[in-house]
Amino acid sequence: MNTAVESMQFDLCEAVAPHIRSIAPYVPGKPITELARELGLDASAIIKLASNENPLGPSPRGLAAAQASLKEIALYPDGAGYALKSKLSEKLGVGLESIVLGNGSNDVLDMVARAFLGPDTSAVYARHAFAVYPIATLTVGAKGIEAPARNHGHDLAAMRSSIREDTRVVWIANPNNPTGTFLTWTEIESFLQDMPRHVLVVLDEAYGEYLAQEDRFDTVSWLSRYPNLLVVRTFSKAYGLAGLRVGYGLARPEVIDLLNRVRHPFNVNLVALAAAEAALDDQTFLDQSYVVNASGMKQLVEGFEQLGLDHVPSKGNFLLVKVGDARRINAELLRHGVIVRPVANYSLPEFLRVSVGLKEQNARFLDALKASL
Ligand SMILES: Cc1ncc(COP(=O)(O)O)c(C=O)c1O
Repeated sequence: MNTAVESMQFDLCEAVAPHIRSIAPYVPGKPITELARELGLDASAIIKLASNENPLGPSPRGLAAAQASLKEIALYPDGAGYALKSKLSEKLGVGLESIVLGNGSNDVLDMVARAFLGPDTSAVYARHAFAVYPIATLTVGAKGIEAPARNHGHDLAAMRSSIREDTRVVWIANPNNPTGTFLTWTEIESFLQDMPRHVLVVLDEAYGEYLAQEDRFDTVSWLSRYPNLLVVRTFSKAYGLAGLRVGYGLARPEVIDLLNRVRHPFNVNLVALAAAEAALDDQTFLDQSYVVNASGMKQLVEGFEQLGLDHVPSKGNFLLVKVGDARRINAELLRHGVIVRPVANYSLPEFLRVSVGLKEQNARFLDALKASL
């Protein structure tokens, strides 16, 4: 490259707005293939409990529908996602105009930022809340207001008092990632009742399918009462379709209409639409995912107790364990072929987040952890 071109590109990057330069990039879980390359190991010898994926794999119904749809991929998908939205509408009892589909639920979060935020606005999220909230907020030039945490989770009173005149969005994950902390529905409803009309509350239920029966609540029933509520869900976790990228948002038609204006055309691909629609009927797989997660969670908690390690009680498909020097322990675990997630970027440098795996994976992780301490 000649010097004139090099210097032009350098200046171009320097000139990018400070709010973009201030974004800390999202750090995903280390891919198995990358660790295999680094350690010269066979990929099959490595276990990854780092991205809250479903250890059972995809919903079999979803997989079959994805495979069957492949012969159609020369065509664009239905940009309105009519079939999937109709199935969601039937299952959830909401109109089609109350549903927006996303290329993963992250896409819905991004649409919220692009539609409701921008310079001269702010959004509130909790310390240790899901990393995409600050990223989506800062990307569009809005100010991110981080409210202090309580017992690692959301402190709704602190979040309420962080709301300003220019606040347009409050991000809440329930359960939260990476902490697994949970707010009761009564707490959330009081928060909604107390919300100024100029603020949209985004209630992210990515892990809702892992809640025990007694913790579940039909938040869709709130949509008619709270016009400034958006419920966000995903097929990436309990349905096992993370690689296809599909999620959705539910809100009043006025809110959905605005999100649709900033949605990319054909944002959900044809294979993902087919798989998600079929997976919605796969109750057997959902039940199995719940059971495997509940028993794996118990196994991990007992393992931590035996090792004398503290953990943060979690209602998701992952949990935080306190290991002290998490950087060192993580490096040791990697040497044992076990990938988990360090969470120093969430201001939790003493913890590792481990996703609940199958029984043998959890056992292997616990053995590797014991050897690493
Ligand atoms: C709280 C929360 N929300 C949203 C997402 C995004 O999931 P996806 O874009 O795969 O639907 C995740 C993924 O880890 C998450 O933990």
